[in-house]
Amino acid sequence: MRITLSTDSPFSATTDLLVIGASSPKVDKDEGLAKLDKALGGVLGDYIKDEGFRAKPGTTLKVPARSRVKAKWVVVVGVGGEDPVADARHLGHAAAKASARQKSASIVLPEESPAVVRALSEAVFTGAYRYTAYKTRRPKGGLSRAALLVADKKDAALKTALAQGKAIAESVNLARDLVNAPPNDLNPLSLADISKEEAEKLGLKVTIWGKKELEKKGMNLFLAVNRGSAIEPRFIHIAYEPEGAEKKVAFVGKGLTFDAGGLCLKPPKSMIDMKCDMSGAATTLGIVLAAAKMKLPIAVHAIIGSTENMTGAAAYRPGDVFTSLDGKTVEIINTDAEGRLVLADCLAWTRDELKPDVMVDHATLTGACMVALGPYRAAVYSDDDDLAAHYAEAGETSDEKLWRMPLDDDLRSMLDSPIADVKHTGAQWGGSITAALFLREFVGKTPWVHLDIAGPAFNDGPHGRAPKGGTGFGVGVGVAFLERLAAPADEG
Ligand code: BES
Ligand code: MN
Ligand code: ZN
Repeated sequence: MRITLSTDSPFSATTDLLVIGASSPKVDKDEGLAKLDKALGGVLGDYIKDEGFRAKPGTTLKVPARSRVKAKWVVVVGVGGEDPVADARHLGHAAAKASARQKSASIVLPEESPAVVRALSEAVFTGAYRYTAYKTRRPKGGLSRAALLVADKKDAALKTALAQGKAIAESVNLARDLVNAPPNDLNPLSLADISKEEAEKLGLKVTIWGKKELEKKGMNLFLAVNRGSAIEPRFIHIAYEPEGAEKKVAFVGKGLTFDAGGLCLKPPKSMIDMKCDMSGAATTLGIVLAAAKMKLPIAVHAIIGSTENMTGAAAYRPGDVFTSLDGKTVEIINTDAEGRLVLADCLAWTRDELKPDVMVDHATLTGACMVALGPYRAAVYSDDDDLAAHYAEAGETSDEKLWRMPLDDDLRSMLDSPIADVKHTGAQWGGSITAALFLREFVGKTPWVHLDIAGPAFNDGPHGRAPKGGTGFGVGVGVAFLERLAAPADEG
């Protein structure tokens, strides 16, 4: 996909699809739409009426242009008309989805601003995403060129915005690829290889540890989860450290390339999609790569704990007790609550070795989170109200759905163990909260945000602008959060 800025007018753009927004089915409500309708001899208005097109945000109507303008087709996209950035997302996505046969699109901007160009660029790239790696007959076609119609294609701010949107989209699409990859091919070893390759392309520092190093460090919770797997674990650390950076943010990702549940085996219906259990890792990787491409003036670290959770002869058992890297002893209750164990050691390591200003973890951690918030919303946990607010606002910016959940202290006693310092699961209720409370045991005083992305990381079918399968959820919010930290908005 190539996206460019173009000074063509909507009438002169030589393109397959001319894409324009409509906030109402009345063509004369919008000046650009009215002009285009006039140039087309009124066919836009006619087709809109004939098809009963209501211009509901995200819906599209394709009208043949019949050589009255240079474009072959005019694609009218319903938009809210109130927020140009939100409109841009609809437009970009619709342009990418409008046809599997047409190659090029020219898009009329709802407003000529960097924010709009960035949103368009991101939406076109992510909208054009398809996962075809395992199809021997790859579906042909799909959009390959998009032009954004602007007054000045040399405008530096717009060009930067275009590149930023692309950088974010590339990370989102990479995360989707990694999540969609089948678990026989995407395992801790290949995840580490791909992470290293992508990070080194950008000149980032990469450290990868296997079982030996984890044993030497004493990451026994992480190792416990790995015991049942025939494949070695990988600890992946990527560092983006721009000169002069004053702040340091560490992202920690759950990288379970397959979660069978261990000896507390999942039933088949719950196991089928468990290749998605490395989504936190994929998001974490995506964020650090995007931050580097965008040259954000802030140090960003990605820490990924990757293993499978399997049932091999050496598998860890309910009742086992392990000493964490942090020193706390942990009694194993349910081997399917493995993510928090891997994260506990990774969080403790990050806290002590990197001493970041903020630590943010992403994990497909609990089914309970989906019970609470449904499949499209991530839970945000933090003891720090300011941080939680920053994350909420970043979610608004990136248009990803978040909801703050409570770290209720009175649930903490559910994690008391009769024989060890803590056990790793609570009682029946509040499973997402007790998982977060367990993680909190390992973050110390470091400001920390935990995102349970079990719902939105993976879709049963397309939803909104997210595709079926891996969604890349969290990359956009993470980047927006970093941008807020780097350039805090004036607050009253
Ligand atoms: N990876 C799962 C959580 C999950 C469920 C992610 C559905 C995505 C979709 C996690 O490791 C898990 O199995 N959690 C258990 C915890 C329980 C045993 C305390 C769960 O949610 O059932
Ligand atoms: Mn599990
Ligand atoms: Zn899991």
